[in-house]
Amino acid sequence: MLLSRDFSKLIIEGNRSMDFQLKGKTAFVTGGSRGIGRAIALMLADHGVNIAICGRSKDSLDQTVADLKDKGVNAWGFQADVSRTEDIEKFVADAVRAAGSLDILVNNAVTSTSAPFDELTDDEFRYHIDVKLMAYIRIARLALPHLKKQGTGRIVNIGGMTARIVAPLRMTNGVANAGVANFTKQFANYAARFNVTVNCIHPGYTATERVTQIFESESRQSGEDINAVISRRVKDIPLGKLIQPEDIAAAALFFCSPMASMVTGQCIAVDGGSSEAISY
Ligand SMILES: NC(=O)c1ccc[n+]([C@@H]2O[C@H](COP(=O)([O-])OP(=O)(O)OC[C@H]3O[C@@H](n4cnc5c(N)ncnc54)[C@H](OP(=O)(O)O)[C@@H]3O)[C@@H](O)[C@H]2O)c1
Repeated sequence: MLLSRDFSKLIIEGNRSMDFQLKGKTAFVTGGSRGIGRAIALMLADHGVNIAICGRSKDSLDQTVADLKDKGVNAWGFQADVSRTEDIEKFVADAVRAAGSLDILVNNAVTSTSAPFDELTDDEFRYHIDVKLMAYIRIARLALPHLKKQGTGRIVNIGGMTARIVAPLRMTNGVANAGVANFTKQFANYAARFNVTVNCIHPGYTATERVTQIFESESRQSGEDINAVISRRVKDIPLGKLIQPEDIAAAALFFCSPMASMVTGQCIAVDGGSSEAISY
């Protein structure tokens, strides 16, 4: 089975009964309206965390905020395009005003194009670096004073396996994700003095709208049927399934929990074992 939905339910049910001591905390999740960000927001809400999310489309923000509130937490949605510095500044200021405090930042939002090197312009490289790496840096910079105030804090950066592996159609992702991994390590060293941990998750192929678009683009480039592209990708995953957004959320939950209080500056791959490089 390509999409292990049943197993995802087990992940959610399995950890819902555990106490991660997160009740009453506040998390900001960029790109929290859909995909991996939404799964992280929902899983944190399952543990009593109040959530502020941002994204560009009002409809998906409203839907996710309603789903978060159904879990009994406070939730706020803010329209923001993280490629714009002024939107980032407004999101953090508005979210702090609404929530009153900040304990957890999840940097996740991204948009990207898949194309071979000779079709990628400077602007496309610049855009991807801006929307991912620079946005993560800018939001972390604005969030840090609020985390410091709490005396402890968590930052989780969502990177991508292209930080470690060659992906010919996703070179802009790779450049940005390598930067995210490096920033995670460097910023963790700085933020440790404030008892703030900074970690990174590299998702493998995760069943979200974005990955569907990547598969569609690969299908267009190669002329292969989309299902053939998916089957080929799944064959490369030793655990034999696409990753579910909840698999990534479970790793984020661990980084946010007291169990990870001595874990910082780490990048963990949640990729079903697909990366072949030996990296420790
Ligand atoms: N899915 C995968 O296989 C995979 C693999 C490796 C890494 N990742 C990483 O995982 C993260 C999430 O990916 P995903 O697959 O969950 O993507 P997704 O399903 O496309 O969701 C992206 C989320 O980010 C928001 N967003 C996109 N561009 C934005 C912008 N400029 N400003 C503000 N919000 C924006 C989207 O809302 P709006 O469109 O409404 O703005 C949406 O909420 C990304 O950092 C991605 O690089 C994913």
